[in-house]
Amino acid sequence: MICMIPIYSGTFTFFVDTLVRWGVEITFIDVDAEGDNLVQAVEKAMKPNTKLVFCEIFGNPTVSIPDVLGTIEVAHKHNAIYLIDTTFASPYIVQPIKFGADLVLHSCSKYLGGHTDIIGGCVTCRDEANWGRLKSQQLTTGSSMSPFDASLLARGIKTLAIRLDRISDNAMIVAQHLEKHPKVKWVKYPGLESHPGHKYANQMMSKFSGMMAFDVGTAEKATKLVENLRIIVHSISLGGTESKIEHPLSMSHGKQLITKGWPGTIPEGMLRFSIGLENPNDIIVDLDQALEKI
Ligand SMILES: Cc1ncc(COP(=O)(O)O)c(C=O)c1O
Repeated sequence: MICMIPIYSGTFTFFVDTLVRWGVEITFIDVDAEGDNLVQAVEKAMKPNTKLVFCEIFGNPTVSIPDVLGTIEVAHKHNAIYLIDTTFASPYIVQPIKFGADLVLHSCSKYLGGHTDIIGGCVTCRDEANWGRLKSQQLTTGSSMSPFDASLLARGIKTLAIRLDRISDNAMIVAQHLEKHPKVKWVKYPGLESHPGHKYANQMMSKFSGMMAFDVGTAEKATKLVENLRIIVHSISLGGTESKIEHPLSMSHGKQLITKGWPGTIPEGMLRFSIGLENPNDIIVDLDQALEKI
């Protein structure tokens, strides 16, 4: 398989600890490093035994944006299945099956549930044969949600559109503010024209969800910033009602991944930020007072 990175650390660990033991060979391709050469890099990495091409709509944690339409075309040219994890955007923001993806994966624990109080996941299929195979796996391995969690998920989905409208609007305001802040080296938000992958996001969506990454220079400054926040929660989860921030190099994408051979680069001063439903002015005031202290 071909796996574009960065990706969620749990998916990476599943690939290198479990899939590899099942005989799966993985070629990693770095979306941030390849930039506009990504399609050619995927084409070059294709082997006669390549069966699957995988990516995330916005890579976790750097919020990189792959050329999804271009890489779907390459996968299909070589008869490979295209699987995309769209957790960071939600199905309200983008429906990759419309653009040719074969399988779409979501963590329902994030935007779909929306309140950070359930664990769940789903896969959507374009093809009925794949659906049948997955359904059989689900039944035989017992991966079913409890009725209570399912009811919370069903309740969460009712407000998905309203939440994602507000979250996307908030995120744009906050990203524009951070982009001008003298203590911030760079901001990567899919809705900003300065994001190198903005053109690819624009091909598929008109709102850009609530995930962004920004860099304050050093790990020390990043840690100090999160310690001084008052409203924004220092936590590894995302996609809920509250704004949440984490320092990937010491949390989600830290030492443990590096010892497993993580093939990408995580900037030491980078923070991953999930914007919530608060008043955007409150988010900005909180960020500004914490930025003042670093
Ligand atoms: C992109 C992405 N996919 C999948 C997951 C898995 O989520 P969970 O197992 O918590 O539902 C996560 C978790 O952070 C994620 O960021």
